[in-house]
Amino acid sequence: MVRYFLFLLALITILVVSIAGLRDYSFLPHKTKRPPIEIFPDMVRQDKVKAQAPSDFYADGRGARAHVAGTVPVGYTAPQACSQPSSGCATMGSPYDVVVFSGKEDYANTGKTGTNWGNGLPFSATMATLERGRERYQIQCAVCHGATGAGNGIASKYGLVGVANLQQQRIRDMSDGEIYNTIVNGKNTMLGYGSVIQLSDRWAIVAYIRALQRSQNATINDVPSAERDALTGTNAPSATNAPAKP
Ligand code: HEC
Repeated sequence: MVRYFLFLLALITILVVSIAGLRDYSFLPHKTKRPPIEIFPDMVRQDKVKAQAPSDFYADGRGARAHVAGTVPVGYTAPQACSQPSSGCATMGSPYDVVVFSGKEDYANTGKTGTNWGNGLPFSATMATLERGRERYQIQCAVCHGATGAGNGIASKYGLVGVANLQQQRIRDMSDGEIYNTIVNGKNTMLGYGSVIQLSDRWAIVAYIRALQRSQNATINDVPSAERDALTGTNAPSATNAPAKP
């Protein structure tokens, strides 16, 4: 009885292997290019062009297509030929307004002077820089770090642990260059965003983080003196600033 069973088992095994076996199953060493028999293919294979792959579909044989002439990316200025950055093609008054992601080894690119992190922006910040920084921060950073940088963004409410609180003293003391570098290359569990945030925007974000830090650690001395007097009651409160009387 057992002999018949074993014989039958061997026969079935040979049959199954010869029909279905030795195909391109991922757990086998690649013996053949024949695709595996899939009972439920689950959309594993589709007609599509992989990134950077060639394609017979187009006459020029390239899978990647050039942009339709005249299209521009939404949200930032397209790279411009800017021989004289100060002459009007600059939008933030900096030599870094043309779209730049990486390049030289200078402070603006690396956040370092020599082997040390440096401080200060590589171009002079204006109100427009801070507005731009706020916009970029809210798009790229606030989901994790929160609107004020307190580390309480929406992602932390959905289980992302260990998001740094940008208001902590260690990061308030951190040099601008090191924060810039964290944006570009990431830090520990935070991924780098250098490939999606252009150079001038990284610095604009650094400037905005400084404004956020200032905003959460303000003292009465940061209030312009005219309004300070109103708040502290040194002078008679002006009509607009007067606290409601009980
Ligand atoms: C997907 C979530 C996420 C996003 C988006 C994100 N961060 Fe972070 N960030 C983290 C986490 C998590 C840490 C803590 C990393 C660690 O120390 O393990 C961190 C740490 C930091 C630190 C502290 C680094 C240090 O040296 O301790 C800075 C500064 C920072 N982030 C800035 C930014 C800025 C600026 C942006 C936007 C460009 C940004 N982060 C976007 C998750 C994020």
